[in-house]
Amino acid sequence: MKIFLDTAEIEEIRIAARWGVLAGVTTNPSLFAKVGGSYDAILKQICEITPGPVSAEVIAEDVDGMVREGRHFAKLASNIAVKIPMSEEGLKAIATLALDGIRTNCTLIFSANQGLLAANAGAAFLSPFVGRLDDISESGMNVVRELAAIVRTHGLSTEVLAASIRHPRHVTDAALAGAHIATVPHRILKQLIYHPLTDSGIAQFRADWASVRKKDSGAAPQLPLQASP
Ligand code: E4P
Repeated sequence: MKIFLDTAEIEEIRIAARWGVLAGVTTNPSLFAKVGGSYDAILKQICEITPGPVSAEVIAEDVDGMVREGRHFAKLASNIAVKIPMSEEGLKAIATLALDGIRTNCTLIFSANQGLLAANAGAAFLSPFVGRLDDISESGMNVVRELAAIVRTHGLSTEVLAASIRHPRHVTDAALAGAHIATVPHRILKQLIYHPLTDSGIAQFRADWASVRKKDSGAAPQLPLQASP
């Protein structure tokens, strides 16, 4: 499963790119509102940092407005994916942009049937919102599982992008449920790196290494690669 970063913060994207795990980025109006400035300028910067798909979300609610915004975003960089909310107008916009060869990410998906329709309209990515379904006591992961099974069973050319990820367990469960991608806030991505036993293991190895140095009165112990044949 590929990892996307769910943010519009440039520094967070740079950090994840250096970790070698960044396959793409998703933004939305709420994430953009946290950084402010020019959405176009931010999108261009993000697209330079990550070669993978970068989702830019439309604001218009009518098909003409969505298509106009989508075509505009697509001109900013070749790796833009236009994010379009699930709706009747949204489906029309997805179908129109698909004819233009512009990739779309259908967002705000809360049922497998919504995802199936978006896939048939031509969406390249389907974004079921896991956390927001969990918030209303439904299982967001069930929608990811059902959608991933439908896509694979019918050989649909679209990817299931698990969104609204709230904690590390969501990431594991999305991978097990067959999601192609999970888009993860930077805070959660960082959490995935750490484990208390990894930290204590590193501390113990360093302490043991230092104790050998002490016994050898300051001489560095031989590293395995330095051992004589
Ligand atoms: C990403 O594409 C979505 O817009 C995002 O994951 C939504 O997350 P939220 O439900 O935490 O706002």
